[in-house]
Amino acid sequence: MDSRLKAWLDRAAPVLRPARRAAWAACDTLRSIAGLSLGSFRYLQDPPKWNEALNRLERRFGRARLWSYPPVVGFALSNYCNQRCRFCSLDLKNVQRRVLLPAGSFARMKWLRFVREIWLSGAAGDSLVHPEFARIVAAVRRVAPKSRLMLSTNGLALKGANLEAAGELDYINVSTNAATEATYAALIKGGSFRQLMANLEGLARRKRPSAAVHLSMVLARSAVDDVRPMIELAARFRFDAVEVYRYFPIPPEDGALPLSEAVNDEPAIWDRVRGLAGYARARGVGYLVAGEQLAPCRSFNTLVQYRGIRGCHAPWSNGHISIGPSGETAFSVCCSGVSLNLSVGDSAYVDFRRAWNCRRMQEVRRTVNRPDDRQNDMCWLCRRLERANFGSKRELRELASRVRPDIRFTEGDDPIAFATEKVA
Ligand SMILES: C[S@@+](CC[C@H](N)C(=O)[O-])C[C@H]1O[C@@H](n2cnc3c(N)ncnc32)[C@H](O)[C@@H]1O
Ligand code: SF4
Ligand code: SF4
Repeated sequence: MDSRLKAWLDRAAPVLRPARRAAWAACDTLRSIAGLSLGSFRYLQDPPKWNEALNRLERRFGRARLWSYPPVVGFALSNYCNQRCRFCSLDLKNVQRRVLLPAGSFARMKWLRFVREIWLSGAAGDSLVHPEFARIVAAVRRVAPKSRLMLSTNGLALKGANLEAAGELDYINVSTNAATEATYAALIKGGSFRQLMANLEGLARRKRPSAAVHLSMVLARSAVDDVRPMIELAARFRFDAVEVYRYFPIPPEDGALPLSEAVNDEPAIWDRVRGLAGYARARGVGYLVAGEQLAPCRSFNTLVQYRGIRGCHAPWSNGHISIGPSGETAFSVCCSGVSLNLSVGDSAYVDFRRAWNCRRMQEVRRTVNRPDDRQNDMCWLCRRLERANFGSKRELRELASRVRPDIRFTEGDDPIAFATEKVA
């Protein structure tokens, strides 16, 4: 380099260096803004993806009041059912008022377009008893064209207009529970095995190739021998997967299954059931046992997992509307077995932020992942509640009376963490 130029550069260095740094910073900022705008443009094409990115960020920073919506929401469309599974906690005689979610509300829920998975089922009750199920599916599809529409049903009313509407769904779980007439009769009252088989056949004919269909069963002792025939059934209809659920025993009264039907503590039975994975694979059927995928399948119902962020995500990622036995609409975020006790009026879930960011939800978000002594009562109970063991509830009651005197219990030893609150 020319010695005169070098001398000049040395003299000018104190000015040039900060100027160069400023230019780099400006370039980088411009590049980030351009990237973000392109990203936003892309995300506007796919609102659920955009929402999930924001949700992840809000979960990471532990925000209590959210801009994002939950990536997974569910609506139990009814508080009653057209059959009685002897393992289900739905007890029709406790349903004081049969109530349906108003079909007209769904077209008004514009926020649904941000949700990745919309379940048109949940809690106890079957959504296909809703006479306007088809209208609800059409409305949700219109407001949320990019979302996945999901349903779990006993399949008894999956015919006619309901079957047509099911053509819009992306994922259908039929809680078949038995693959033979004898097991069906032992586990299910008031249904019809033949009708169910006819409906499965209809579904196999009408479903879109991209829609996933799973057959599920609750592993009660009487159902163990039906797992293999269930895989066979799924293969025959070219359905995607069989799911075997753990059975959470319900109080053994009024025709409910006796506790002797619970097999959760019998590893030999589970080994036998898991051992059918090879058979499922050979038949081209996905196979999930107690949430573990043992034979591959292309579609799951989602567990929202934010990798690298520890603790429970439910108060950020999930929102469920259900209808209680006396007809009240309730909001929840998980199925821990302890209720949020948050009753919500129609307008609180149509204008969703009112329920989503209400005082109790903010309190739960602030405290869900805190150490024991600063955790809210519901999540404190969740850490201790062993749903598969009824005996433990009494122990829980004793423990709570010593350390958490605010927690009340029902006569049946069910804990009540929060007083009922209404969001209008
Ligand atoms: C409560 S149901 C509600 C939706 C619909 N009625 C159905 O049966 O699919 C949701 C799922 O929970 C399962 N289930 C019911 N009672 C259960 C229990 N005690 N333990 C484990 N799973 C249960 C059902 O078989 C069903 O697949
Ligand atoms: S079909 Fe579903 S809601 Fe109805 S009794 Fe069975 S598990 Fe319960
Ligand atoms: S009770 Fe609390 S900790 Fe348990 S799943 Fe629900 S939100 Fe998470």
